[in-house]
Amino acid sequence: MKTAVVLGTRPEIIKMSPVIRECQAKGLDCFILHSGQHYSHNLDRVFFAQLELPEPKYNLEVGSGSHAEEMGKMLIGIEKVLQQEKPDVVLAEGDTNTVLASALAAAKLHIKVGHVEAGLRSYDRKMPEEINRVLTDHCSDYLFAPTEETRLTLVGEGIAGEKIFVTGNTIVDAVYQNLKIANSSEVNAMKELHLQPKRYFLVTIHREENVDNPGRFTGILEGLNRIAHKFGMPVIYPIHPRSKARMSEFGLQANRVRFVEPVDFLSFLQLESSARLILTDSGGVQEESCILNVPCVTLRDNTERPETIKIGSNILAGAYPDRIVECSRKMLSANNDWRQPFGDGKAGERIVRIIMESSV
Ligand code: UD1
Ligand code: UDP
Repeated sequence: MKTAVVLGTRPEIIKMSPVIRECQAKGLDCFILHSGQHYSHNLDRVFFAQLELPEPKYNLEVGSGSHAEEMGKMLIGIEKVLQQEKPDVVLAEGDTNTVLASALAAAKLHIKVGHVEAGLRSYDRKMPEEINRVLTDHCSDYLFAPTEETRLTLVGEGIAGEKIFVTGNTIVDAVYQNLKIANSSEVNAMKELHLQPKRYFLVTIHREENVDNPGRFTGILEGLNRIAHKFGMPVIYPIHPRSKARMSEFGLQANRVRFVEPVDFLSFLQLESSARLILTDSGGVQEESCILNVPCVTLRDNTERPETIKIGSNILAGAYPDRIVECSRKMLSANNDWRQPFGDGKAGERIVRIIMESSV
């Protein structure tokens, strides 16, 4: 059986790393197809090197563009590779343009599609990620749902139960596999940034709905300035290139926020696990904060990770300065003793076992 792992962005590389490692461990005939959606060293190469992943056999180098430009180039490039390689199954993870392009290209060639992290919904169709997730789920043959809630969502949308497998989320595997390494490695992000454990806030914001909207981005930055002042803690923001570009385009500033370049995964795990509070609009970071028992304030009006809200690890603050302060205050007094709902760290093993068993 031949497997193609298609990926293209930072979170896909991180969340597919346990699956790729398991494919290697089981001696599967497997290759990586990189769309090239992310290409900057600190959003791409750094993760291959640090997670010791095999080199992609193909990189389509589609780069950045409008949604249609990115998707169009990816569809054409992915189709060519799939026609040449003829894999039995294509695995893709998450909700980016790369994921939808790989699912569409494969499904139309009658190649089986396995969607890792299936069934998440924000119910906000203005988000490009929501369109990508819904469409990918509905043309997939294997839906690897991280939780029981996500399985029920898929069943509710009419997807046949036998296609759905509750595996846990591979982010748990990635955190468990790398946290120990992070703690014993020479990398010391805290020292480099002169930070004291539990004496700083960590921020990431990059989603289109926030940073491409000057009003929302201004509100968020104002909220961050206010919490830095009010709680007297440094606010560290490893800034995604999209957000950096928008700040300069819109002429935005946040004088109390410390902006740094995006960091490697081990450094980021160190920064997350020692943070007093995390503020984010990232999907992966909402999950990681929950897994690491660090409280999270989500700078969005909705989340496709409602499990985190239910157990009290996360709260929605939107992009409103007063609410960001209020939600931060609330989460600073959380007990941080929740049990994360995303699985036991063996999602990668389950996913690979399922595709191997179904091919015999
Ligand atoms: C994409 C995903 C988003 C995911 C994020 C992970 C879609 C629709 N969005 O958003 O769901 O959360 O990746 O980080 O697929 N850029 C660089 N270097 C890079 C990549 C991007 O400088 O390596 C800059 C470019 O200015 C580019 C902008 O970031 O125009 C946006 O990149 P793009 O890949 O279109 O979307 P992301 O915001 O990264
Ligand atoms: N991450 C990282 N360095 C950073 C910021 C984030 O390694 O400077 C990792 C983080 O640990 C998580 C993933 O990137 O695993 C999340 O990706 P991102 O926020 O870009 O995308 P999303 O999860 O929102 O799709």
